[in-house]
Amino acid sequence: MQTRNLTPVTGVEISGIDVRQVSDADFAAIEKFWLDRCLIVIKDQHLSPSELCDFSRRFGELEKPPASAGRRRDEEAPEMWVISNVIENGQPIGALGSGEAEWHTDMSYIPEPPSASVLYGREVVTNGGNTWYANMYAAAEALPADLRAAIEARQANHDSSYTSAGELRKGMSDVVDVKDAPGARHPIIRNHPVTGRDTIYLGRRTNSWIVGMEVPESDSLLDALWAHCTRDEFCYSHRWSPNDLLVWDNRSAIHRRDSFSADERRVMWRCQVRDGSFTAAAA
Ligand code: SIN
Repeated sequence: MQTRNLTPVTGVEISGIDVRQVSDADFAAIEKFWLDRCLIVIKDQHLSPSELCDFSRRFGELEKPPASAGRRRDEEAPEMWVISNVIENGQPIGALGSGEAEWHTDMSYIPEPPSASVLYGREVVTNGGNTWYANMYAAAEALPADLRAAIEARQANHDSSYTSAGELRKGMSDVVDVKDAPGARHPIIRNHPVTGRDTIYLGRRTNSWIVGMEVPESDSLLDALWAHCTRDEFCYSHRWSPNDLLVWDNRSAIHRRDSFSADERRVMWRCQVRDGSFTAAAA
């Protein structure tokens, strides 16, 4: 197994392994990179849907696909879903289309969001479509004292109405007042349940609200926090090659995606791993 850091703080690239045949000792090393660096990029994997699920399951029990997830399912791998812009027979085969996906944490709008997200590049585009990651350990360490004091012991409400592509989810209605947005509440500064390090848990900016604050005060604090957390030095931008397999720690990284041309095909397979460490209340 060869490894190289992708930036000074975020992401490790791993090559020279086949994830279908990783020993327990090698998996322990991979898991440690994932925990310490928030993201692992494993090059050149050749996986069927059930092999992707088998590897993902080594990080923990798999989540069922969310309601807004890709439409195409594989009978032998029901926990896998598709992120794609491809339309077949008039129907999208996957979620998120070809537009930009805003910075977010996967499924932070549920009381127990996933620990790991796994994304496998089956068909990738030649222009755009990069996926970006920001390391929330590094952001927490560099947090200015006044900002930290303002959010310490506070919770944010994570709205469940919209996807990160800005689409209203099925059965949801427009949010008129962020104080009433449906979703889940989580502490903004959170101790990572495995590493014990402080992280900033942001979810997404749209319709976010710091519980108990007046909306203008919450908005200006959230804007300052987001500007801090997405500073260049915390970020890595991944340019996809076919057969890249990425796994990120949702508890310590946020991510976003660049838009790309609707004329190119992009097909990604996705799994998410359940986490039992959250203690959130539904909003
Ligand atoms: C996501 O936001 O989870 C999908 C990222 C991507 O399509 O690259």
